[in-house]
Amino acid sequence: MKNTTRDYRHIQFCEGHSKVDIPQLVALFNSAAIWAKNRKIEDLEIAIANSNPVVSVWDHKTMIGFGRATSDCVYRGTIWDIVIHPNYQGGGLGRKLVETILSNPRMCHVERIYLMTTHQQNFYKRIGFEHNQTTTMILHNQPIEGEIELTTRNQPSLLAR
Ligand SMILES: CC(C)(COP(=O)(O)OP(=O)(O)OC[C@H]1O[C@@H](n2cnc3c(N)ncnc32)[C@H](O)[C@@H]1OP(=O)(O)O)[C@@H](O)C(=O)NCCC(=O)NCCS
Repeated sequence: MKNTTRDYRHIQFCEGHSKVDIPQLVALFNSAAIWAKNRKIEDLEIAIANSNPVVSVWDHKTMIGFGRATSDCVYRGTIWDIVIHPNYQGGGLGRKLVETILSNPRMCHVERIYLMTTHQQNFYKRIGFEHNQTTTMILHNQPIEGEIELTTRNQPSLLAR
């Protein structure tokens, strides 16, 4: 599991929506993220625009990792789409990626941080996450007919589309 042969000191962790290269993200998901294969570029752009923090991991000009979160900054935050390219796994980059997200000001004061994972419980346990079987339910949402415009006083539209 542990990759001790490679030097990752030059690898950069970049925060921000604008840093993400969407075509490279699609390729990264297709190589390593079963749940995110074949996502459409236009949908990914919306998901990223509505996430904060967003962190991408770079080996020079190649994006080799990605993760994002949503947060209310106080009570609840959720981590999404954590991925490190298979050629770079096992060298501590996944841990650093999650820790970078957790240390962001929008996440570091949040009371509870959630994540959904099918196979990587042991990875997250190493970072401090615990099993939680009491609070998990899911709604497989159905498309709503027509369009609902979400607005707040200061923000004309919550949807980036
Ligand atoms: C899960 C993933 C992000 C881990 O990234 P990584 O760079 O390989 O992980 P790291 O090298 O930083 O590992 C951190 C720690 O977790 C441990 N670990 C990593 N993967 C593990 C696994 N599958 N089972 C048990 N322990 C694991 C490491 O041994 C290391 O332990 P240590 O810090 O005590 O030495 C990466 O394997 C990946 O992208 N997988 C495919 C996508 C995926 O499943 N993402 C998670 C979706 S919820």
